[in-house]
Amino acid sequence: MDSFIIEGGRPLCGTISVSGSKNAALPILMASIAVDGDVEYTNVPDLRDIRTTASLLDLLGRRTRFEDGRVVVENGEMGIEAPYELVRTMRASVLCLGPLLARMGEAKVSLPGGCAIGARPVDLHLRAMEKMGAVFDLEHGYIHGRCPDGLHGANIRFDFPTVGGTENVLMAACLAEGETVMENVAREPEIVDLARFLNSCGACIEGEGTTKIRVQGVKKLHGTTYPIMADRIEAGTWLVAAGVTGGDLFVKGCPAEDMSAVLDKLREAGMELDVLPDGVRARVGSAGLRCVDISTRPHPGFPTDMQAPFMVLLCCAEGSGLISENIFENRFMHVQELVRMGADIHVSGASAMVRGGTKLAGAPVMASDLRAGAAMILAGLAAEGETRVQRIYHVDRGYERIVEKLSGVGAVIRRVKDED
Ligand code: UD1
Repeated sequence: MDSFIIEGGRPLCGTISVSGSKNAALPILMASIAVDGDVEYTNVPDLRDIRTTASLLDLLGRRTRFEDGRVVVENGEMGIEAPYELVRTMRASVLCLGPLLARMGEAKVSLPGGCAIGARPVDLHLRAMEKMGAVFDLEHGYIHGRCPDGLHGANIRFDFPTVGGTENVLMAACLAEGETVMENVAREPEIVDLARFLNSCGACIEGEGTTKIRVQGVKKLHGTTYPIMADRIEAGTWLVAAGVTGGDLFVKGCPAEDMSAVLDKLREAGMELDVLPDGVRARVGSAGLRCVDISTRPHPGFPTDMQAPFMVLLCCAEGSGLISENIFENRFMHVQELVRMGADIHVSGASAMVRGGTKLAGAPVMASDLRAGAAMILAGLAAEGETRVQRIYHVDRGYERIVEKLSGVGAVIRRVKDED
């Protein structure tokens, strides 16, 4: 296992660029299962989860090639099984369920277990696809779905705007017979990107980005070339990095139009942001940083994936702020690690009270999940002295070339092998 060693207390300055979005690339790569033809993707981040998705596509009978941000998925004889060995390393593997059912009439996908940030069930995915004619059994830890006569359109209302559920059903509905109307769907920009991809393959989707999506089923989807959107969570992480280090960063390719809630909160917290055509310049305003309250919500609300990174900003700001986590239970695993670095944070149920203004001090800490890992790196960059961040395989799931990118703007960070 590797760790990062960070020498903190240096302001980050210069240009840092944003890679393609992991959370958009995952479903869009999975969607190639539903496509009858070759697909070429550009701006794909080279991340562990993306490599896992490519392995899954290979196992399912597609041939994938990965080179320089470009992934080619070739058509081939298809299988129907996503095995435990892959699904346990990446929950998003469950996104192959919808396109497999639509294309093959059958799918066997290992049931994703719980993960560090909560139970994360897939009941809403299954209930929606049952309305479209699928039948599911749980067999030896696998979800076995069947629809021998194909899927049909249906009226679906989600109890909660689930991101993965909306994506799975959207992919399934493209090849279903007739019209599917999905209500109370997730509105995340990654869903808009998935719908755009599917439409570029000949699907007939309307309403993406709103709470109601209409899909007219088509007989076939054809191959295409598609650029993956920029990663708004990575971009947000770099904006926070400018704040916590007192630096001046130009975040190139920052998709400001998809980030209003985060940009508003950063400004409220005292950051000065210039939204330019090709990115956002970020630095602390003359009055310094002050604490704000944060409440995570489905898009367009404040994203849960920015909760942990933002907590580090509050630790470095004056005053106190309340963070309420409304999407996932158990998503405060980073708090204990931040406290070890000197932060003053008290958790009560789904809320964390942060008292800012404490000077963070370097310490050995652990990444408990992807975004908690990003928070540890931000804290290490802000802290005086050396921070060792362990279990960084979580960070490698979502941040491309992180050492290179941060070193390029003045951070002192290196990857080392842990001695067992
Ligand atoms: C996706 C993102 C993740 C982000 C999250 C919320 C990917 C690969 N991951 O995760 O980074 O934090 O959206 O923005 O895009 N739920 C159920 N039943 C279901 C489905 C969901 O109870 O069938 C609950 C979950 O347990 C969770 C909440 O709904 O508490 C949100 O889940 P969901 O929106 O589905 O998130 P993911 O797709 O897992």
